[in-house]
Amino acid sequence: MSIIENALALAKARGERVPAGTRARRPGADATVSVETQPTRQFETVILNPVILERNCVLPQVADRAALRAYKILRTRLLRRLTAEDWGWIAVTSTRAGEGKTLTSINLAVALAQEPNTHVCLVDLDLPRPQVAAQMGIRCERGLGEYLLGEAEALQVIYSCGAANLLVIPNNRPFDYSSEMLGSPRMLELLQVLETELPQHIVIFDMPPLSSDDALAFAPRVDGVLLVVAEGQTDRAAVAKSKELLGEMNLIGVVLNHSSERDDAPSYY
Ligand SMILES: Nc1ncnc2c1ncn2[C@@H]1O[C@H](COP(=O)(O)OP(=O)(O)OP(=O)(O)O)[C@@H](O)[C@H]1O
Ligand SMILES: [Mg+2]
Repeated sequence: MSIIENALALAKARGERVPAGTRARRPGADATVSVETQPTRQFETVILNPVILERNCVLPQVADRAALRAYKILRTRLLRRLTAEDWGWIAVTSTRAGEGKTLTSINLAVALAQEPNTHVCLVDLDLPRPQVAAQMGIRCERGLGEYLLGEAEALQVIYSCGAANLLVIPNNRPFDYSSEMLGSPRMLELLQVLETELPQHIVIFDMPPLSSDDALAFAPRVDGVLLVVAEGQTDRAAVAKSKELLGEMNLIGVVLNHSSERDDAPSYY
């Protein structure tokens, strides 16, 4: 084993992200890649209910043109950045609760998965308040909680959302002791499964707000962090504090949610 291979193996064992440039690139990122590298593993399929999606403003059941346009812009800018940096794992957080992290994570995942040759896995990593399954109308017996408690295997809690290139790891069990769970050997094992099984997927982790230490503790394991800010609800001091907190990590961008200029649609900068 070479020194580099050794270092990568050590980083993997510690659950850290493998440095950019050493991972398999997403198909489409390199124009010379012509072979269709569609993942072959089959996951259990969940059927999404259009009525629930529409009620919760989840794509593709969004009629608001401004919102659709905003998500497309968000997708394109993010994809460009991820491709340029060879990044794949993103954590979505905010300064406070209720600013739109989960909705942004879901709609971003759906919008990205609509792009050709782009595969996405959305992980509900808000352990104290899991909401991805509820907002997407996903009903499943086994989710992340069951996996973390040893009641299911990792591959049993990854679900396919039908035709789109979208996988989801939902969770129906809230955890009070979320920090311990985030750093647990089961969690590290799951991250290794994602690295191994889904090397070409963009993985989006819906996290708790920065008021808990979960997002900060988890940030070194992802390539970058997306900060959701609710216009008119997040004060400047809180955003400045978050930027300070995120200083040591890659802040990929800030998503302005509930933007009054754009009909409640998110924007990105
Ligand atoms: N741009 C938007 N337009 C309309 N409704 C929205 C928008 N953003 C969020 N919501 C709604 O506001 C509520 C809170 O959003 P969401 O669950 O995404 O926030 P959150 O930051 O994940 O909250 P928490 O901190 O509790 O996890 C949800 O009911 C969601 O559907
Ligand atoms: Mg949430």
